[in-house]
Parts: sequence; C-alpha cells; structure tokens
Amino acid sequence: MRVTLKLATSLDGRIATAAGESKWITGQKAREEVHRLRAMHQAVLVGVETAIADDPELTVRLPGFVAIQPARVVLDSRQRLPIHTKLVQDAHRLDTVIISTTAPNKRLTDAGVTVLQVDSQDARPDLPQALNALSGWLNRKVSDRLPVAPPEDFTFEGGLMIEGGGQVAASFLKAGLVDAIEWFRAPMILGDEGRPAVGEFVLNRLADAPRFKRLAVHEVGNDLWERYERL
Ligand SMILES: NC(=O)c1ccc[n+]([C@@H]2O[C@H](COP(=O)([O-])OP(=O)(O)OC[C@H]3O[C@@H](n4cnc5c(N)ncnc54)[C@H](OP(=O)(O)O)[C@@H]3O)[C@@H](O)[C@H]2O)c1
Repeated sequence: MRVTLKLATSLDGRIATAAGESKWITGQKAREEVHRLRAMHQAVLVGVETAIADDPELTVRLPGFVAIQPARVVLDSRQRLPIHTKLVQDAHRLDTVIISTTAPNKRLTDAGVTVLQVDSQDARPDLPQALNALSGWLNRKVSDRLPVAPPEDFTFEGGLMIEGGGQVAASFLKAGLVDAIEWFRAPMILGDEGRPAVGEFVLNRLADAPRFKRLAVHEVGNDLWERYERL
C-alpha cells in the first residue's frame, strides 16, 4: 500500500513546542491543502500520542466534499486510546481503526472501533504487517465505498497518509515504508526543545539515510509546500 507522510512544521522541522502546543504552526491555506490530501487517501494514520495530545477528528472538512471519509487509523500497541477522544466518540459513524499488538478490547469495539491485531516488533505493531492488515481491511470495505463517487475536483489516489507524530514518522521512514512526503513548512522557529517532525532515528552512516527527490514546491499563503517522492 502506498504510504505518504505529511509533515506540518516550523522552518527548523518542529511539529510542536516542548509543551506540546501545535495548533497552529501552518496557516489556513496549508491546512486546506491537508484536507484535500486527506480526501485523496483511503486512510489517515497517527500515533496514539498525537491522538491523545491533539484529539484530532482526522476528517475531510471542505465545502462540497460529499464522498466517504477516509478511515482514521491509530497506531496504538496497547489500546490506550481514551474513550472520550473524538476518534472513539465518532467511531459508530466514521471508520476508525486501531492497530495493536493485543487482542481487541471490548471497551473500544463496543464504541465502534475496529481493532486489527498484528505481531509485535520491539513491543510495537510490526509495520509491514500493520500495512497488510490495514490494506486487507480497506479492500474488504471497498464495496461500501463505491456508491458515493468523489466530486470531480477531488482526485482519489487511495493509499495511506501518515499525519504524525514524530515517533511514528521516524518508524515508517526507518523501515523504508514512506513513498512520498508532503511537507508544509511555516516561517517560524521553535528551537531544539520543540518536538521533532522525525523522532529518534539512530543513523550513523549517510549512506543509510532515506533519500527523496523533490517533485514540486508551492507557496500556500505564508507557508511552503514541498512535495517529495522516494528515490
Ligand atoms: N504539527 C503537526 O502537524 C503535528 C502533527 C502530529 C502531531 N503533532 C504533535 O506531535 C506530538 C506527538 O508526537 P510523538 O512523536 O510524541 O508521538 P506519536 O508519534 O504521535 O505517537 C507515538 C506513540 O505511538 C505508539 N506507536 C505504536 N507503534 C509505533 C511505531 N511503530 N513507532 C512509533 N510509535 C508507535 C507508541 O505508543 P505505544 O507504545 O503505547 O503504542 C508511541 O509512544 C504532539 O505534541 C502533537 O501535537 C504535530
């Protein structure tokens, strides 16, 4: 399954202050583009820390968008996502999936959340298996999705878009599973103690760094939108 990593950062590659404040680093126009990108994907994914800290809806909120919403996916090894989060509260209405290393928890499944259990790798979901499980689940849902075609100005590409945070971004990059990066960069500096867009990487050799080819750069309001594809 094609994986796109979306980053919304300061110039120095931070996604939040040290205290965790992240709303908003990029401006309104960049955020609209993120909604358009969501509309192009079958699923959007965050780590459980982002799901808890930001309490996001992960929905497409654009005028004229009537197609099925992308599935909202949380990487959550031990199913600690709280019931009161918007993701769980909306789970009966919108596809909501947790990828975990443990058996489905009734507290979450009763709330309408789908729990996909995969093997663990260093106590976290094995990522290739997680992508396979998600892709299988999405394919089984495809028939539900066909009746409502997206409006013409929304190109549907399928695949998964990762929306953070830094630990999850690092894991996917390190595993060589990121095919494209959509990087929104705001003209502000958050400093070294801000939360990094890409967490711990443990990379010693430049030769091992994942490399990307820049496809385009657009100005969106005061921000830059850089588009990359894996070399
Ligand atoms: N500027 C932006 O657009 C933006 C976007 C997103 C987030 N943020 C900010 O980023 C911060 C959260 O980022 P974060 O890096 O601390 O956390 P994160 O990446 O959102 O979540 C990390 C957690 O996900 C779980 N996880 C499961 N499988 C994983 C895997 N393979 N690799 C990594 N983590 C895995 C782990 O918890 P378990 O071990 O319990 O599973 C881990 O602690 C918040 O402050 C949020 O506001 C900003």
